[in-house]
Amino acid sequence: MSDYSLLILPGDGIGPEVMAEVRKVIDWFQANRGMRFTVSEDLVGGCAYDKHGTPLADETMAKAQQVDAVLLGAVGGPQYDNLDFSVKPERGLLRLRKEMDLFANLRPAQCFNALADFSSLKRDVVSGLDILIVRELTSGVYFGEPRGIHPDDNNPENEGGRVGINTQRYTSGEIRRVARAAFELAQKRGNRLCSMEKANVMESGILWREEVQWVHDNEFPEVELSHMYADAGAMQLTRWPKQFDVIVTDNLFGDLLSDLAAMLTGSLGMLPSASLGAPMDNGRPKALYEPVHGSAPDIAGQGKANPIACILSFAMALRYSFGEGQAADDLEAAVERVLAEGVRTADLMGPEGGTPVSTSEMGDRIIAALSAG
Ligand code: NAI
Ligand code: MG
Repeated sequence: MSDYSLLILPGDGIGPEVMAEVRKVIDWFQANRGMRFTVSEDLVGGCAYDKHGTPLADETMAKAQQVDAVLLGAVGGPQYDNLDFSVKPERGLLRLRKEMDLFANLRPAQCFNALADFSSLKRDVVSGLDILIVRELTSGVYFGEPRGIHPDDNNPENEGGRVGINTQRYTSGEIRRVARAAFELAQKRGNRLCSMEKANVMESGILWREEVQWVHDNEFPEVELSHMYADAGAMQLTRWPKQFDVIVTDNLFGDLLSDLAAMLTGSLGMLPSASLGAPMDNGRPKALYEPVHGSAPDIAGQGKANPIACILSFAMALRYSFGEGQAADDLEAAVERVLAEGVRTADLMGPEGGTPVSTSEMGDRIIAALSAG
């Protein structure tokens, strides 16, 4: 029997509601597929601040370093908006990402056919779409030094008199490790990787292109590699996204391109993500899985939240942390089937209307679809 350790951090707002549905899915896999999960649950975000005065207690951080995977709901809410920057709920999430050194952020853009009409693009452009964007998450212009806002003293021509600075900085090693992660993912999928940068105007982009090419030539020569300027990539993603399989790009371009790709397929309530780090002793990468959406305070506590983004995040954990690819496929197929049957939470209701199901009914329907196989 395989034994997996999982730290669950439901967080704030709708986090606990959607996570309750993931617990049902975990229970189902334990009862029906011979997996054993050692699950511990803890606080992150505003609820952790309320209890401990910090959005992530040291004990929780230590636990996160030891488990096979961390699954997080969402953090934040209006009641925490005026907290000092150092204890804001998001700081809990940032601390997890930083201390676990989660350098590869995986954002799938997958179109469930039953929802293809939700897209702002034509049905045949998005139906069957299944691409994966790998965004470098721990370096680049969001972290590079020097940075800041300074007086622009010796420049009388500068109306306003200040200068704002950020620095795009990548080392070879930072590029190679995220490229390696992307090549490995491509190997398990369609064996195609497209790397995006702006090598035409940025030296860091030239280095990016050379290092990705190096990893290809030396370690993954059988994966089909292409390079594209990131602005052209944005155009191609909206024109014909199915030309791509896996895309790897830096932190800044990945931030934009992953949001763009996500919206090709519809609702925020459907979007999972994974953030992976270096392999641990057991060969599995450090990993944090979380839905893309936030704590949705406008609908929290009302049983309206769509649990699918969180459930699909758990499917990614099955695939990338536990090596249970078949189970992940089955869970995704169960979601597809439930959607095909017309089951919708409120966020998925089209103009034709109908009666939405609650968060827990959606979870129950997915469990029923899993059981029906
Ligand atoms: P949000 O993602 O929480 O909500 C945006 C809109 O989408 C809302 O109308 C919400 O009701 C809806 N929505 C989101 N998830 C949904 C779901 N699963 N089912 C149905 N509808 C859903 O983003 P917003 O409103 O900008 O931020 C709210 C709070 O969440 C803030 O405190 C923000 O800082 C935090 N946040 C946290 C994130 C995280 O934990 N990773 C990410 C984004 C925001
Ligand atoms: Mg973004």
